[in-house]
Amino acid sequence: MALLASWEAWIFLLLLSLFRSVSLVDAACECGYSVNSTSDIEYAVFTDLLESDFTKIKNFQDDTDWQPQVWELDPEAALGPYGRATRLEAILPNPAVNLNINSKGIYGGHAGLNLLVPRNYTVIKGEKYLIGAELDSARNDMFYGTFRIGYRTTKWAGTCFGFYWYHDDNQEIDTELLSREINTTHTLLNLVLHTPVGGSNLEALPGTFQVAAIPLNSSAEIHELRFDWTPTAITWYHDGLQVWTISNTTLFPRQPGHLVITHWSNGNPLWSGGPPEGNAALLLTYVKAYFNSSDEKRVGDYEVRCNAVGGNNGDDRICEIPAQVGPPKYGNGNGNGIGNGANKLPYFFSNDLARNATFNQTVYEEVKKSEGEKVGGGPGGGAGTGGSKVWRPAAQCSVMLWMVFLVILPMVGGL
Ligand SMILES: *[C@@H]1O[C@H](CO)[C@@H](O)[C@H](O)[C@H]1NC(C)=O
Ligand SMILES: *[C@@H]1O[C@H](CO)[C@@H](O)[C@H](O)[C@H]1NC(C)=O
Ligand SMILES: *[C@@H]1O[C@H](CO)[C@@H](O)[C@H](O)[C@H]1NC(C)=O
Ligand SMILES: *[C@@H]1O[C@H](CO)[C@@H](O)[C@H](O)[C@H]1NC(C)=O
Ligand SMILES: *[C@@H]1O[C@H](CO)[C@@H](O)[C@H](O)[C@H]1NC(C)=O
Ligand SMILES: *[C@@H]1O[C@H](CO)[C@@H](O)[C@H](O)[C@H]1NC(C)=O
Ligand SMILES: *[C@@H]1O[C@H](CO)[C@@H](O)[C@H](O)[C@H]1NC(C)=O
Ligand SMILES: *[C@@H]1O[C@H](CO)[C@@H](O)[C@H](O)[C@H]1NC(C)=O
Repeated sequence: MALLASWEAWIFLLLLSLFRSVSLVDAACECGYSVNSTSDIEYAVFTDLLESDFTKIKNFQDDTDWQPQVWELDPEAALGPYGRATRLEAILPNPAVNLNINSKGIYGGHAGLNLLVPRNYTVIKGEKYLIGAELDSARNDMFYGTFRIGYRTTKWAGTCFGFYWYHDDNQEIDTELLSREINTTHTLLNLVLHTPVGGSNLEALPGTFQVAAIPLNSSAEIHELRFDWTPTAITWYHDGLQVWTISNTTLFPRQPGHLVITHWSNGNPLWSGGPPEGNAALLLTYVKAYFNSSDEKRVGDYEVRCNAVGGNNGDDRICEIPAQVGPPKYGNGNGNGIGNGANKLPYFFSNDLARNATFNQTVYEEVKKSEGEKVGGGPGGGAGTGGSKVWRPAAQCSVMLWMVFLVILPMVGGL
């Protein structure tokens, strides 16, 4: 009887261990994330992921995937009647109360991260500056990728919203949206490829600059701006529809870089215009970036985790990135936010815990800080700016200025 009991105990333990291993979810996407299905004629696979669901972020300092910038360009360097200064206080999270019910943020208006350009100038060392905001990705090893941002522009004319991949002023994939170029029926997208073989901001090479008119007012609803960079094409999309593509690979970037999001004004009527007549808020709801890495360690990690599932030819090794079809939808009460149908919230692999789809990725999680390594600061660069930006650790926090912004936030256009 004692012997039997011990056998029973063994079987019990065996069953328990089986049960425990079943309760763990096998990982998915170890071999990457694909644009289009791998059974399509054309597709691209990317090994790494950066997903930021800005509708959930309460304290932006917790999101170590992004480095908020603090720098100043005097009016001469900023090429405007006003200088440009970026401040942490111009980055205002407005997390959702409960996205399963509606899109409302805790300060009212639509949930998301606000990048502010206040209407009033600030005097710094005797000169007039307009405050703006800039976020640079901590990952600086992006080489090829698909880069997507959920955004709603400000209704105030006179600011520039930039979303771009950046190595230096000659290797940059750029999208700039000027709020003065939005009317009731259209929004213009300025699409620029800064090339390693010449051309400049003022004189772009043929085939490297395009203005696309999108038939909507982008300050009314959330939309998705996207660009894909593969070995054969650089293609821009809006709400999932292709707007422009370049296939002359001579013009393509040759070194790795990072992502930049900016909202700014320098009062120059030839570009940003402004200053805006109201406190201008650009609303961001997410960034989703799937990219290859130039970092040997990340490449090695990919090989290890992908090879480990080599024998398993399940469809889950390479995961197709759901394509955004039409404007992203919020607040339809669809529960878990999984899926991409007409009534689904935007999809994040990193929110899909049941799928275990971001194993060994450097993603932001509410409970756990991102594993994203912070790269040493560097200039964010960008069209129309010199390379003289200095990144300083996000240390100083002017409580006064922050409070002023918090007070004006509810009054900001469209919020
Ligand atoms: C996800 O997959 C990895 C790799 O197989 C595994 O180590 C981990 O325990 C899984 N996580 C969960 C929550 O199941
Ligand atoms: C995905 O498929 C579409 C439609 O066939 C094609 O235009 C696009 O270039 C493909 N994307 C990639 C990255 O291959
Ligand atoms: C901005 O300037 C106007 C006019 O000088 C002033 O009335 C207003 O209080 C200022 N707003 C803020 C937020 O400082
Ligand atoms: C765009 O839509 C917003 C929100 O409805 C509105 O406030 C704004 O005036 C519109 N812009 C134009 C130029 O019509
Ligand atoms: C709105 O902008 C579009 C694109 O620039 C332009 O074609 C259209 O004429 C503009 N509409 C008005 C009423 O100005
Ligand atoms: C990204 O890297 C993976 C692994 O090396 C490779 O299979 C894939 O083709 C690369 N993607 C692109 C778009 O080149
Ligand atoms: C690609 O761009 C380079 C640099 O502008 C140019 O010399 C070349 O003719 C272009 N190739 C094609 C096929 O257009
Ligand atoms: C996961 O990634 C990190 C950072 O790239 C690396 O140090 C680690 O060895 C990886 N772990 C596994 C199990 O792949």
